[in-house]
Amino acid sequence: MPSGSMQKVVIHKAGGYEQLKLETHPVPKPGEGQVLIRTEAVGVNYADICVRWGVYESARRFVGWPITPGFEYSGWVEDVGREVKHVKPGDPVFGVTLFNGYSTHVCAPADLVWPKPRALDFEAAAGLLAVHLTAYHGLLQNVVIRPGMRVLVHSAGGGVGSALVQLCKLHNLHVTGVVGRSHKVEYVRRLGADAVIDKSTHSLWDETKRLCPDGYDLIFDANGPETLAQSYAHLKPTGKLLVYGFHSLLPKQGGHINYLKATLGMLRMPRFNPLSMTSENKGVVAFNLSFLFPRADLLHAAVNDLTAWLEAGDIRVPKVRSFALEDVAQAHRVLESGETTGKLVLRTAPRFSASANEATVQGASAPDQ
Ligand SMILES: NC(=O)c1ccc[n+]([C@@H]2O[C@H](COP(=O)([O-])OP(=O)(O)OC[C@H]3O[C@@H](n4cnc5c(N)ncnc54)[C@H](OP(=O)(O)O)[C@@H]3O)[C@@H](O)[C@H]2O)c1
Repeated sequence: MPSGSMQKVVIHKAGGYEQLKLETHPVPKPGEGQVLIRTEAVGVNYADICVRWGVYESARRFVGWPITPGFEYSGWVEDVGREVKHVKPGDPVFGVTLFNGYSTHVCAPADLVWPKPRALDFEAAAGLLAVHLTAYHGLLQNVVIRPGMRVLVHSAGGGVGSALVQLCKLHNLHVTGVVGRSHKVEYVRRLGADAVIDKSTHSLWDETKRLCPDGYDLIFDANGPETLAQSYAHLKPTGKLLVYGFHSLLPKQGGHINYLKATLGMLRMPRFNPLSMTSENKGVVAFNLSFLFPRADLLHAAVNDLTAWLEAGDIRVPKVRSFALEDVAQAHRVLESGETTGKLVLRTAPRFSASANEATVQGASAPDQ
């Protein structure tokens, strides 16, 4: 790569894995209040796949095409713009960005860049924030929790799910995790879940009812129409359904959206009636963090707590599996399959880029299944 250049993944139009193009571009100069980071690793999130498909609302609204996906990174400060005081060139950092993460260099607003926790290596640090901020925001900034509350977490073996299970246990809640494949059961147990429902071998709703006949206080659901109505039905009075994704509308293989399936799924989307919600004392809370980047107060409060809990060993980064940046299509294929546990990251530093190894990060990340 010529000096002054960087590599980044660019998507020029919606589509399959073939739309993920690795391109060479000039390294940007940080403007006032910005930090230029030479990345070591960047996180891969399910939302990035939705960006590639062209169905991610904030990507359409704030960027359009072409777009470089990616919400999180770790690396070294290379340069800082005027007025940046809390980090300097040479510092190891991690942070979030509203897109543009899949790159060897990220130019981010200074208030979204933090010193990298010492307890984490770069791959673990790149995989921490998106999923833990989502879990933190859902559990600790949206609802009131009390020890002993019963929580049901769908897709508990995935990135956000792994983070939710850990944050629930840290706050003395009783957690039941739901997984779609048997190989995830042990992983979710080892994260600390009190019970795990394997919906590939058991009836999801019979088990849900058996484990908690009076209903749940909180249910975290990113499945969409496949489960939302039943999740709501399994809340107890005062219970809250937390909605933060719709992946059951989307395919698990092939890389292309089936628009007929998606449209039929949209037609099955439940409608919640405020009149009956009032008399049932149940609530629905929905959120998407990509529309909350202006709320630096929320993000900073969350990162402060998460970093302290990490340093104290109270939480771990979900299990991390890494791919070389040029193997981004493979990372998308694997995440899209719904088979993964924990987090996926892309290695972006030149010394990593020769081979497409898979690695489980040791130390601060969660146990293997
Ligand atoms: N609103 C927000 O701010 C926000 C932020 C981050 C993530 N999210 C959402 O949270 C969810 C998890 O994100 P993640 O990045 O952590 O991914 P992930 O949980 O690592 O992977 C998604 C999981 O969802 C299930 N799944 C995937 N495709 C599916 C399909 N077509 N039908 C049914 N189930 C499917 C699979 O688990 P099982 O089969 O075990 O259920 C899969 O492991 C995504 O829906 C994402 O969009 C929302």
